[in-house]
Amino acid sequence: MVLRTHLCSELSEVNIGENVKLAGWCNTYRDHGGVVFIDLRDKSGLIQLVCDPTSPAYSIASSVRDEYVLLISGKVRARGEGLENPKLKTGKIEVVVEDLVIENQSKTPPIAIGDDNVGEDLKLKYRYLDLRSKKSFDIFKMRSDVCMATRKTLDSLGFTEIETPILTKATPEGARDYLVPSRVHDGDFFALPQSPQIFKQLLMVSGFDSYYQIAKCFRDEDLRADRQPEFTQIDVEMSFCTQEDVMHVAEKLLQNIFALKNIDVKTPFMRLPYSEAMERYGSDKPDLRFDMPLFEVSDLMQDSSNEIFKKIAQDTKNNRFKALIVKNRDNFFSRKTLAEAEEFVRKFGAQGLAYIQMKEDGAKGPLVKFMSEKSFDTLIQRLEAKVGDIIFFGAGAKKVVWDYMGRLRLKIAQDMGMIDANVYKFLWVVDFPMFEENEGKISALHHPFTMPKDIDNPDIESIQSVAYDVVLNGIELGGGSMRIHKQDIQARIFNLLGIDSHEAQDKFGFLLEALSFGAPPHGGFAIGLDRLIMLLTQSNSIRDVIAFPKTQKATCPLTSAPSSVSEEQLRELHIRLRNLK
Ligand code: AMO
Repeated sequence: MVLRTHLCSELSEVNIGENVKLAGWCNTYRDHGGVVFIDLRDKSGLIQLVCDPTSPAYSIASSVRDEYVLLISGKVRARGEGLENPKLKTGKIEVVVEDLVIENQSKTPPIAIGDDNVGEDLKLKYRYLDLRSKKSFDIFKMRSDVCMATRKTLDSLGFTEIETPILTKATPEGARDYLVPSRVHDGDFFALPQSPQIFKQLLMVSGFDSYYQIAKCFRDEDLRADRQPEFTQIDVEMSFCTQEDVMHVAEKLLQNIFALKNIDVKTPFMRLPYSEAMERYGSDKPDLRFDMPLFEVSDLMQDSSNEIFKKIAQDTKNNRFKALIVKNRDNFFSRKTLAEAEEFVRKFGAQGLAYIQMKEDGAKGPLVKFMSEKSFDTLIQRLEAKVGDIIFFGAGAKKVVWDYMGRLRLKIAQDMGMIDANVYKFLWVVDFPMFEENEGKISALHHPFTMPKDIDNPDIESIQSVAYDVVLNGIELGGGSMRIHKQDIQARIFNLLGIDSHEAQDKFGFLLEALSFGAPPHGGFAIGLDRLIMLLTQSNSIRDVIAFPKTQKATCPLTSAPSSVSEEQLRELHIRLRNLK
C-alpha cells in the first residue's frame, strides 16, 4: 500500500479521471454551504480538494482545520467553467475526495504560514512552521541545487572534497573566536574555525593540489543583514597556479551556478583595482548596475576662497574632495530630501553635504561662491553638468569621504529606482593593499597568509597583496588570494603585523613548520554560500536562506541557545563563572 501516488502540484489536466492518493497539510479550509473545500499543501504546492455531503469523507472533512495532516484518496476532475484559479499551478483541476484520514491534528499555528510580517523572534521560534511556506521550499531547493552544481563543477575540474576540523585552533580572519572548553585538558580551549584557511593550505603542503569543501565557518562578530555567526563557504584551494587560474575556477563555478536560474554570466569578469574602486565608487564592493561615479575635484578647490575647503583640498595624500553628479534629477531634491541626504551622510562621519543645483537661471548652492570662476568652469566641463543636474560634494579624510560618498551614491540610485534588480554585475576587485591601519594598529586587510607583491617596499601602506574579491551587485560574494608559501616571507609578515616570533610560534608554529617542508606555490578563494543564495533568491535577509538561523543578537529563539548549563557540567569543564545569573 502506498500513502501517496503523486505530489500535490504534479497533478494536471492529464490526470483528469484518475484515482489518486495524496498526503499533506490543510493549507486552508472553506465550507461553502455544505461543500467543503480544502487546499492541500505539500512541498510541491497546493491542490484543491472537494468534499460534498454525499461523500463518505464529508463528516471527517468538516472537522479538518488549518495545518492538520491529511491522507486522502479521490478522483481528479476539471474545475467547472469560471471556477478555475489561474494563480495556482493546479488551478484548472480539483480532487473529489472519496476517502480522508486525519493523520494528525495541529494546534492553531502561532504564525500564518508564509506571512512575511511576522516579528523576527516569533518567526524564528516557530521556524519549522515558517519553513512550511512555498517561498522557503524554493529557497532551500535552490540552495541544494547550488551545492550540487558546485560539487559537479569542481569535481569535473579535478578538485577533491575534503573535510577539515571543527574543533581546532584560532584562525585569524579578523573576528572573535567561538571557544569550546576542553574537559580533558584543564583550562584549554578549542576554537571553532573562522574558515578552513590554514587547513586548506596544509592540504596543499600535503600535495592534494586542488581541494574544495562546502564548509561551516564560525565568527563572533557584529551581525548585519548579510552576516551570521555560523555560515557556510564554498572553500577552494589549488597549487601550482596563478591568480588568473584561481579566478578562472571561481568564474566557471559562478557561471554554472547562475545557469541554474537561466542567467547567462559572461566571463571573464571585469577587473577593477582596489584604488580605482575606492576613488570612483567609494567602496571596495561597488554596485556597477549603474555608473554614476565619484569625481575627484580637489585640484579645483585648492584656490577656494573658503579656508577650510582649501586646506582639505591641498592635502591630497590624506584627504579627498569628491563630487557626485546626479543627472537630470535636480527636481527630485526638495529642501526636505536635501536635508535627509545630509543627515544620511552625517551618520557616516560627514561634517555636512555641500551641493550645487544647476538651475535655468544659473548654478545655485552654498559651494558656488567659494569657487573661482575658472575652477567652476572646469568643474562643469569635467562633470558635463547641465541644467537640471545636481552635484553633491564630500570633503575630508579620504577613508571617511570614500565611505559616505559611496553610500550616498548607492542610496540615491536606490531611492531613484536607477537599479535594475534583474541585472547581475560581477567584478573582481584586485590589487588590495596588504595592510590596513586602525587606530594606529597595523593588520592584514585579507589575512596574514596573503602573498605580498613587494615586501621590500619601505612604505608599508603602499605594499599591495595578490588578493582578489569577487563582487556582485554591491555585495562581497567571496574573496581569496595567492598565499605565502615560503617560511621566511611568512615570518616577515608576522613581524610587520607586530606578531613577535614567540606569538607566531605559539599561534601558527605548525603552519610555519609545514611551510618549511616543501610547500608548493598555492592560492584559493572562498565564496559565501549564504550570500550567494540570498542574491539568487532575491532574499532581503541572510536569515531567510539558512534553515535555522540566529537572530541579530546571535541567539536561537527556537532552542533558546545559548543557554546556561548545569554546575556539574561546568565543574567537569573546569569553569567557574564570574557572574552567575
Ligand atoms: P573572507 O573572510 O573574505 O575570506 O570570507 C569569504 C566570504 O565568506 C562570506 N562571509 C560571511 N557570510 C556570512 N556571514 C558572515 N559572518 C561572513 N563572513 C564572511 C562572505 C565573504 O566574501 N579564508 C578566506 C578565503 C580565502 O582567502 O581563501 C576567507 O574566509 O561572502
